[in-house]
Amino acid sequence: MSIISNCTESAIRDAGASLISGNLVTFPTETVYGLGADAANKDAVLRIYEVKGRPVDHPLIVHISSIEHLDKWARDIPEYAIKLARSFWPGPMTLILPRTKLAKDFITAGQDNVGIRVPSHTVALALLKEFESQGGQGVAAPSANRFGKVSPTTAQAVSDELSNYLTSADLILDGGPCAVGVESTIIDCTQSLPVIIRPGEVSTQMIEELLLIKLPVFDTQSNQIKAPGLLTSHYSPNAKVFLTGTPAPGDGLIAPISVKTPDEVIRLAAPKNNTEYAHALYNALRQGDALGIKNIYAVLADEIGVGVAINDRLRKAAE
Ligand code: TXA
Ligand code: MG
Repeated sequence: MSIISNCTESAIRDAGASLISGNLVTFPTETVYGLGADAANKDAVLRIYEVKGRPVDHPLIVHISSIEHLDKWARDIPEYAIKLARSFWPGPMTLILPRTKLAKDFITAGQDNVGIRVPSHTVALALLKEFESQGGQGVAAPSANRFGKVSPTTAQAVSDELSNYLTSADLILDGGPCAVGVESTIIDCTQSLPVIIRPGEVSTQMIEELLLIKLPVFDTQSNQIKAPGLLTSHYSPNAKVFLTGTPAPGDGLIAPISVKTPDEVIRLAAPKNNTEYAHALYNALRQGDALGIKNIYAVLADEIGVGVAINDRLRKAAE
């Protein structure tokens, strides 16, 4: 496995060809790094599951370069989904839509719908355009971490997570640290109203303002969409994560800058606002592990905007 630190045009051309040949290419997006494979190539997609150690009943998100390609993968697209796509793509949002024949069971885990996203990171977009120009249709990419672990937001973190599982033909494209830092907002668009099934930077408020509606709350019991992996304990570092209580000497602390660090507690992040908090969160959890810290205390973010996503991930990390 090689890490490509300079994503030149020729490096992107080679990476596109590598995907076409059935290899895995890990690439930066604005949210987190993705572990990419040709979404139409069953063997390549099955390797994603192997490398991640992920159960095969968890569906994958297909990444495309533009809304123009949406109807290759999705059908019966409601008007509100088109509006969402026009407003927030390229960007940190995934739409779940009824699938076309192109979206096989090995992508959707047998569900009749498929998750689609157009990322905005320049390297991701360049790779997707190149892959499409070489005949590809879409790139399946989960976060590039081992199953249940913290998503990587740097190429180094990808390498730490996956180098033992990738082969010499696989690539890691280094596009620097991810700007957003938490995964995309996932919106179920298979019903008469959109439902957020995973919070992200595209917030409830942004969607409600765009569509002039009140969003229904995701009810895991009655929603028809099965979203394995969104419900269970996840995003877990090796350290134990606590959301209440007081850190002792030697413990780690992640909290907004207004929270003081008690004596001999190791401060892992002190974000000034929710944007900084999201950007810093996963690296802070990883840094805690790198330092061998056993207990990490986290103070929840203000529950507004991307703060909802931060708190969702922290609660799952603490489960
Ligand atoms: O920001 C992101 O979305 C990143 C970057 C790489 O694009 N990707 C990502 O993928 O977070 P992943 O696989 O780590 O998380 C996607 C979650 C999984 O829990 C998966 O089960 C769920 O979304 N999911 C994917 N397709 C789905 C579908 N058709 N229906 C319901 N859930 C779906
Ligand atoms: Mg993931």
